[in-house]
Amino acid sequence: EQGPPKLFGIELKWISLITLALQNAFLTIIMHYSRIATAPNKTYSAAAAVLFNELLKGAISTLVALKRIDNDMSAQATQKESRNRPVQTGFTMFKANRLGTLRRAVLSGDCYKLAIPAILYVIQNNLQYVAASNLDVATFQVTYQMKILTTAFFSVLMLGKRLSRAKWCALVMLALGVGIVQLQSTAAPGHAASASSHSKISLRDELPEADKVVSRAVDAATATLPATMRPFRGFVAVTMACLTSGLAGVYFEVLLKSGTSSGTPDLWVRNTQLSLFSLIPALVPILFTGHSPNMSWFGNVASKFANFNGWAIGTVLTQTFGGLITAIVIRYSDNIMKGFATSLSIIISFLASVALFNYPITFSFVAGACVVLAATFLYNSPSIPDAPPTRKTVAV
Ligand code: C5P
Repeated sequence: EQGPPKLFGIELKWISLITLALQNAFLTIIMHYSRIATAPNKTYSAAAAVLFNELLKGAISTLVALKRIDNDMSAQATQKESRNRPVQTGFTMFKANRLGTLRRAVLSGDCYKLAIPAILYVIQNNLQYVAASNLDVATFQVTYQMKILTTAFFSVLMLGKRLSRAKWCALVMLALGVGIVQLQSTAAPGHAASASSHSKISLRDELPEADKVVSRAVDAATATLPATMRPFRGFVAVTMACLTSGLAGVYFEVLLKSGTSSGTPDLWVRNTQLSLFSLIPALVPILFTGHSPNMSWFGNVASKFANFNGWAIGTVLTQTFGGLITAIVIRYSDNIMKGFATSLSIIISFLASVALFNYPITFSFVAGACVVLAATFLYNSPSIPDAPPTRKTVAV
């Protein structure tokens, strides 16, 4: 490779990290709002959302992989093609070849290995909806930072990374910070949005008139929340999502960065393989679980696609975009840097929830969030080099 890839003169690595931070903040808010804006029996199915996400990601990855093959082949063709050859023949051969090339790349010898991250990501994506439905935006966002711990653990285990003492300290700080933030939501069970009436510091009065209207509409829509949200359930879901996220991310990184007999695998071919394997676990809950005995099988399947309103579509599109950006971040940085980007998104989404949902700013939230952010900066501080790796990447 010649130098790091750039877009508008900026390294793709930094563009992707910043985009991921913004996307994460937006996703947390839109996913939470899309789930709580309607009564529980009127909300869309998370399984259907996960399936649409996988289909869309797969389609986009396939198109990008084809485009890259096109570019490679046309570069080769311009070099080789003799001048007097008819253009049409060349073009037809070209089309047939690129599909064959993609099929061979996608179904190459080690494609089955993508089944593991694919299944883990589908489980994680479903758990995320459970967590977002049962925790307020800020608590979800901060507790989800435990991903950094699980990612570090799996990076040490599978990528042979060795972390300096300062980095381990940062990880412990992170866990503490997450705990402090968690304290405030267990001390006030139910939902932070419902606590707006007893919030100590509210920014509502400082909001412009239009924001107040949005904020009142959201309050009205979320008036029934305390009965429907179960913070403990949300916390268990978020913990399990952190474990599956760490393992899946590091596993994907190993598959992306360890060369095969035919060279370094292409990101978009890997993504297409990941999406293909994701379709099976994404379809299972729709086809076979949670079916009502009073309805036919077709009726049950069709009912999973009910209530798919604009909010649901917006959530799926945001998640698909995030999946693609995540893949780029893993390719051009690594999973631990990805954790840094998502920590930054806490600040963004927290400020947005205060403005949009009139969330209270409690002392323990601010203290916990500060500890999380300090830990993140300490972890990423360039003055603390990593210890050299102990051994090679584990073979997967
Ligand atoms: O929370 P975390 O950063 O682990 O989320 C990763 C998300 O990115 C998951 O929703 C997963 O489906 C998606 N992803 C993807 N393609 C990849 C890697 C991750 O769509 N190659």
